Amino acid sequence: MQKILVTGGAGYIGTHTCVELQNAGYDIVVLDNFSNSKPDALENVKKITGKEIKLYEGNMIDRNILEKIFTENEISAVIDFAAYKAVGESVQKPVEYYTNNVSTVLVLLDEMKKHNVKTLVFSSSATVYGDPEFVPITEDSKVGGTTNPYGTSKLMVENILQDLYKSDNEWNIAILRYFNPIGAHESGLIGESPNGIPANLMPYIQKVAAGKLEQLSVFGDDYDTKDGTGVRDYIHVVDLAKGHVKALEKLNKDGKGMHIYNLGTGTGYSVLDMVKAFEKANNITIPYKIAPRRPGDIAQCYADPKKAKEELGFVATKTLEDMCKDAWNFEKNNK
Ligand code: WQD
Repeated sequence: MQKILVTGGAGYIGTHTCVELQNAGYDIVVLDNFSNSKPDALENVKKITGKEIKLYEGNMIDRNILEKIFTENEISAVIDFAAYKAVGESVQKPVEYYTNNVSTVLVLLDEMKKHNVKTLVFSSSATVYGDPEFVPITEDSKVGGTTNPYGTSKLMVENILQDLYKSDNEWNIAILRYFNPIGAHESGLIGESPNGIPANLMPYIQKVAAGKLEQLSVFGDDYDTKDGTGVRDYIHVVDLAKGHVKALEKLNKDGKGMHIYNLGTGTGYSVLDMVKAFEKANNITIPYKIAPRRPGDIAQCYADPKKAKEELGFVATKTLEDMCKDAWNFEKNNK
């Protein structure tokens, strides 16, 4: 049975991907420092799948913990989620973001090479497109012009991985550019529960629905979109997790290569669309007010998902109603 190292495996995307990997028959080793997650998230993964996860607590910047993992386990591939991901926070703390999101990957790649593990799925983001030149966005759209250290850190790692592959084409790499992951596993046991006031739209709506926050601020209604509010490609986190299994299957089949895929639905929804969808799906009113634009925000960002469908056989199947219902179900289960 193939053993996969999942760094940041206790996080929002990480836990959902661990579930789908175990469902697909893989053995899981998780490395996490719990800087933005909790150990009981992995207990909940076990409740869902009934399977054990081998956990190492620590940070990839510490070479010793990676040495220990690769020595004690026959790792066949790595899925790297371990990163900070708050856009606004990254503007305030650039050095922490570049250390945690870039330096750690350099240590990881060096240790993987030392142990002859060259299969990697890397968690990237649509933020690398900056303000996209056109929508829907294809993988060969121009990247760069990132407007915050978080997005720039993801682009830096993409460039590192491409340089690595040029230097040694025995590497076997899939870069996955996420659009806007939301929702939660249908069990309500795992989901997104950021510490403090959520920066992202859906977790904020969840807190308003739960009465923990008074009302949603809609950041601008004067964008060049159908209703003036920002348009994004929201994808159910379980679909996103399944996309990782598909990417791993392709890497296992090909044995080597460098691939980049957008993981999105291909449909853009506005902020007001999301409010209405959440209210309809859950029969709840979400009070909101129109507020000034958020610095760094762009008008529209949604994927052309064709390449992932053609090359991975990946298609997001869950609906906006599923996303809204599952998000609320998780919030209710995690008062
Ligand atoms: C979505 C829309 C906001 C909050 C970022 C990262 C991306 C990924 C997801 C990590 C925008 C509007 C939001 C609120 C609002 N992160 N909004 N009121 O900025 O598209 O993407 O998070 O993987 O990499 O770039 O997501 O959810 O913050 O915003 O009106 O309280 O909702 O203006 O139009 P974003 P978001």
